[in-house]
Amino acid sequence: MITWFMQDLFVRHLVTYLLSLIGLLAHTQVLIENNHTPVVKIDKPKVSETINWNTLVPYAINVTDAEDGNSAYEEIAEKEVLLIVQYLENPSLVDDYLARINQDLVPLVAMSQSTCFNCHAATTKLIGPSFDLVAKRYSAKDNAKGYLMERLIIGSSGVWGEEKMPPNPDITEEEAGLIIDWILNQEDNPVQFYVGLEGAIRTPEVQSNSDKGVYVLTAAYKDHGSTSSLKNKKLGLQTITLRVK
Ligand code: HEC
Repeated sequence: MITWFMQDLFVRHLVTYLLSLIGLLAHTQVLIENNHTPVVKIDKPKVSETINWNTLVPYAINVTDAEDGNSAYEEIAEKEVLLIVQYLENPSLVDDYLARINQDLVPLVAMSQSTCFNCHAATTKLIGPSFDLVAKRYSAKDNAKGYLMERLIIGSSGVWGEEKMPPNPDITEEEAGLIIDWILNQEDNPVQFYVGLEGAIRTPEVQSNSDKGVYVLTAAYKDHGSTSSLKNKKLGLQTITLRVK
């Protein structure tokens, strides 16, 4: 009788224990998952549009994120919204291109969440040199990567002119490595990217073999996590493919 009673008690305790464990796990799960993925939408141009060579094509992006807010109410930092534009000679190349797009997105997103785009752009000089010029200057030099990673983190002056680059202590060594690798690659065929919710895409003069060509537009925004988990940031993106003539 006593043993039966004790067994019963033991089983009850075990059940209570297991139930609380499951509860705890479920709770943790909620904490990890309650940051939602941002919804990024390219409102302009429309997918059905054909774009022309040698023109300015207006674009507009909308971002909504359950935690960060809605770009329509100015709750999203515009400088963290990116558009990458790529011309491909044939629609059959789109899948391969998209499979590799993280190589551009990861460093660009890291830069968009820092201060880089206040002073640097792809091919035009702002306060700092354009990335294609930085690549031209260093890509053939020994230890360019190590040198530039250090300059990036501690700041730079006296190389390009009068303006100084302040230190960038928010950039981790790992991010610095990815960013500098990416910048050093921007010499010959720089990635065409735009920062902000709206603007205009400049298309070049008509390209050869362009009868099948398409433009691929990828808009992206990485959120800031949720209050319970700032590390669990999520990237939202949308890609559209447009014909060109
Ligand atoms: C306040 C403006 C400003 C910000 C913000 C800024 N830069 Fe710069 N950057 C400059 C200027 C100016 C120079 C040129 C400095 C010089 O002449 O040595 C420069 C130079 C550079 C260079 C070349 C360094 C060299 O020694 O030749 C790289 C690479 C670079 N910036 C990347 C970045 C990245 C990546 C970020 C963001 C993490 C960033 N910059 C943020 C203004 C800025």
